[in-house]
Amino acid sequence: MLKVTTLTKAYGKKTVLDQISFSVQPGEIIGLVGENGAGKSTLLNILATLQKPTNGSIHLHDKLCQKEKQSIRKAIGYVPQDIAIWEEFTVEENMIFFEKLAWKKLEIKALRQLCLDMALDKWKEPVKTLSGGMKRKLNLAISLIHDPTLLLLDEPTVGIDLKSRKEIGAYLRELASAQGKMILYTSHDMDEIIHLCDRIICIGDDPFYEEILIDSGKEILSF
Ligand SMILES: Nc1ncnc2c1ncn2[C@@H]1O[C@H](COP(=O)(O)OP(=O)(O)O)[C@@H](O)[C@H]1O
Ligand SMILES: [Mg+2]
Repeated sequence: MLKVTTLTKAYGKKTVLDQISFSVQPGEIIGLVGENGAGKSTLLNILATLQKPTNGSIHLHDKLCQKEKQSIRKAIGYVPQDIAIWEEFTVEENMIFFEKLAWKKLEIKALRQLCLDMALDKWKEPVKTLSGGMKRKLNLAISLIHDPTLLLLDEPTVGIDLKSRKEIGAYLRELASAQGKMILYTSHDMDEIIHLCDRIICIGDDPFYEEILIDSGKEILSF
């Protein structure tokens, strides 16, 4: 379980996140929404242990993240907003490169399967020839090499085609329900969030945040 308690982040005098508390259970997909500049990426960066909170605590599987960074990082898969892969390399070369950096070792067959699981079948193609959707899938596949329990995805579907969006959504659902992964997902697309996520956390100015419940992934109760 992920447990965030009264998390606050200020940049100088500007408070971006104000006493946010929520928890995520295994198998849950949580949507994080809010306007540009609301603090979505900041929250994901803090959860990924890349930035320090000003106040508050984060526990993952009962471990305090600020204290046990190394072991916590092994349990986290993070896909930042900007795609970070080698454009000149093929999909295969990218997967092998990032496997070398990963905590867990995987055979080439398993690396390829990770890509195939999300309908990324361009194994021998250079990344620069792939569509935006395919690149996103590769980014996601890389983040899953070490089999993390918590996935942090920052706008994974922005600017990509509808087919890839649907395939990514279906794959995330499968990861959550079959493998019990916890997924935090930011998007501008409310429709996508409503259909994909079990709960929504909205960050904004007034109030700073609220939690919205969705009934069977379809209906928003209050917004
Ligand atoms: N390193 C930083 N230093 C100062 N201000 C920052 C920094 N990173 C983000 N901010 C500010 O914090 C706010 C939230 O940014 P961000 O988390 O990127 O929002 P979002 O992802 O919701 O668009 C913005 O006003 C942004 O300008
Ligand atoms: Mg952002």
